Amino acid sequence: MSLEGKVAVITGAASGIGRACAIRLAQDGADIAVMDLNEDGIKETARMVEAEGRKCVPVAFDLLDRTALTSAFDQVKRELGFIEILHNNAGGSLRKDNRSFTKADAEQWDYFIALNLTAAADCTREVVGDMKERRTGRIINTSSERAFIGGPGFTDYSAAKSGLLGFTKSLALELARYQITVNAVCPGITRTPILDQMPKEHIQKSIESVPLQRIGEPEDIAHAVSFFASPGAAYVTGEHLLVAGGRTIH
Ligand SMILES: NC(=O)c1ccc[n+]([C@@H]2O[C@H](COP(=O)([O-])OP(=O)(O)OC[C@H]3O[C@@H](n4cnc5c(N)ncnc54)[C@H](O)[C@@H]3O)[C@@H](O)[C@H]2O)c1
Repeated sequence: MSLEGKVAVITGAASGIGRACAIRLAQDGADIAVMDLNEDGIKETARMVEAEGRKCVPVAFDLLDRTALTSAFDQVKRELGFIEILHNNAGGSLRKDNRSFTKADAEQWDYFIALNLTAAADCTREVVGDMKERRTGRIINTSSERAFIGGPGFTDYSAAKSGLLGFTKSLALELARYQITVNAVCPGITRTPILDQMPKEHIQKSIESVPLQRIGEPEDIAHAVSFFASPGAAYVTGEHLLVAGGRTIH
């Protein structure tokens, strides 16, 4: 129970990777706050965290609403106390159409940058003051293999997830003197609700391109997040860990 007595906030925790990370950090001993648009989903995650014997505060709101975001963090601080671990995990690339850069409009660009990059900076701003004061903290960002391999139809998403790596490294340097670490996990294709909306042929093609010959499970990503949050990772900062079955090996 290496995280006993600590509080972790996980965004985008109504399903998939965020939910698996919430359960895993609870198993590691932390009390958890889960934030997401999907109220039913985070209530279900909260039940799963509580089944692990930890406290859980679910807060449903839109991360792109800055006023709601500040209120959400204030609520968590009141209910659980000092937030020592922040996992900026919410994000996504799904859209109905207009995937290509030339067809998509500027509003679509702004939305995916806001969701996958700016929201992480906004959440970090809410916790970093207290972390500096206490000279301890862990910030973990969910980037993507798309930051490394790109892909047609992913210009905004790849730009945001690459930006998240730049944010991770620069913030790590800024906060190192306070013993706050900042790292990123970069999932490859992972079995989450996002896959339900992908064409089966696309998923099959992806599996064929993964050297370990399977799709990642949310728990594969949670192992990496658990490491970055753990006392054992105290001397690791500004790093990223690809959990992608070898797909990015050249
Ligand atoms: N699944 C994959 O193959 C894969 C691969 C690489 C990276 N990722 C990244 O992993 C992270 C988690 O994704 P996932 O695959 O678990 O998908 P998911 O859909 O299960 O989780 C994303 C969560 O973000 C929430 N969310 C979206 N917009 C929001 C908003 N404006 N405010 C609050 N919450 C919002 C959704 O409701 C959802 O619960 C994302 O950042 C995604 O980009 C996923």
